[in-house]
Amino acid sequence: MKLTVVGGGSTYTPELIDGFARLRDTLPIGELVLVDPSADRLELVGALARRIFARQGHPGRIVTTSDLDAGVDGADAVLLQLRVGGQAAREQDETWPLECGCVGQETTGAGGLAKALRTVPVVLDIAERVRRTNPNAWIIDFTNPVGIVTRALLQAGHKAVGLCNVAIGFQRKFAALLDVAPPEIFLDHVGLNHLTWETGVRLGGPEGKDVLPDLLTGHGEAIATDLRLPRALLDRLGVVPSYYLRYFYAHDEVVRELRTKPSRAAEVAAMEKELLRLYADPGLDEKPELLSRRGGAFYSEAAVDLAAGLLTGTGSPYQVVNTYNHGTLPFLPDDAVIEVQAAMGRTGPTPLPVQTVDPLFAGLTAAVTAYENLALEAALRGGRDRVFRALLSHPLIGQYAYAEELTDRLIAHNREHLAWA
Ligand code: G6P
Ligand code: MN
Repeated sequence: MKLTVVGGGSTYTPELIDGFARLRDTLPIGELVLVDPSADRLELVGALARRIFARQGHPGRIVTTSDLDAGVDGADAVLLQLRVGGQAAREQDETWPLECGCVGQETTGAGGLAKALRTVPVVLDIAERVRRTNPNAWIIDFTNPVGIVTRALLQAGHKAVGLCNVAIGFQRKFAALLDVAPPEIFLDHVGLNHLTWETGVRLGGPEGKDVLPDLLTGHGEAIATDLRLPRALLDRLGVVPSYYLRYFYAHDEVVRELRTKPSRAAEVAAMEKELLRLYADPGLDEKPELLSRRGGAFYSEAAVDLAAGLLTGTGSPYQVVNTYNHGTLPFLPDDAVIEVQAAMGRTGPTPLPVQTVDPLFAGLTAAVTAYENLALEAALRGGRDRVFRALLSHPLIGQYAYAEELTDRLIAHNREHLAWA
């Protein structure tokens, strides 16, 4: 089996390699290609990747290249994990919205829109080249904002699935709290990428007993502390929101907080510098501890599971992925991209039926779906007015004066990445 990682020079790649090495029985990779425009990064990360494979006795070959067409040729799956503009662009996304009193975040709110506008054209171009060389390859998208990017890919007719580590993170956390093995935990996970709620926590599978009420009673405090939300709120919601919901449920508090500390991008940039220094050590042959301070914990395991499901029909039978709604959530259009449990197979994911969603969650989901649709319009067709419409529709923005101001800032800070600006 051949896998290609676009953005393979990322400092995150050793996390992926570590998962591929440990889980080689689930996903037997014969050749792994790391594609990246940065030759320096590739050399450094590629060499470490080979040492990790060697240490763990993985027989697979690791190839590095800056030539996308050569890299995807013959691949069974292509993973996209790129960041247009790097941490510098992310830093901007996290900063200018704050000047207007709005959350500055890489995937939520105005910063997330900026990221979508920079990213969608680049990802579509890559996907088009993948299709030309290799029409059968599956595209696994980790590139944020995953919901919007996946919708762009599906709308263009690509064989794509979007993936995020939020669900697998909760699965691991709840398994630890309940002292069971992670595969024993099945989450009723509903919403959009980075806008989800765990509405049930079942033991054994989709038909298993829902232990969410017990989990909240026994461990509500620990879960709330982790999410940095009040325990009382969790009890009132009766579900576990993802930590991205804090940007909604505690928006003003988050804005105040973000104004007093360095951006996450700055933190990550410092970590990346240190990581690259560590990667250069020829004695290093495992992923360094420092990497666990990034947000991507368990993403390699989710990736292995998904690739195994799509390519060999093995892997977990049910997985949380981003795919077309197609009636699963009746209050959303069919062509919305949702993040839910799906039965996984070689023909792709099929969402499992979802129980009626509380209007408290359905309402926000519908509003953000409309925003995502308008965001994609703006990313595909450009223009100040489309950016304004997307911002005005966002439930965290909503007022025309903010939307005007944010539109100007977004365009000013992203001109070099926007062909139309
Ligand atoms: C989580 C999210 C990812 C996001 C990451 C950011 O893993 O699911 O979509 O990219 O956090 O982590 P970072 O370490 O870059 O802040
Ligand atoms: Mn994510």
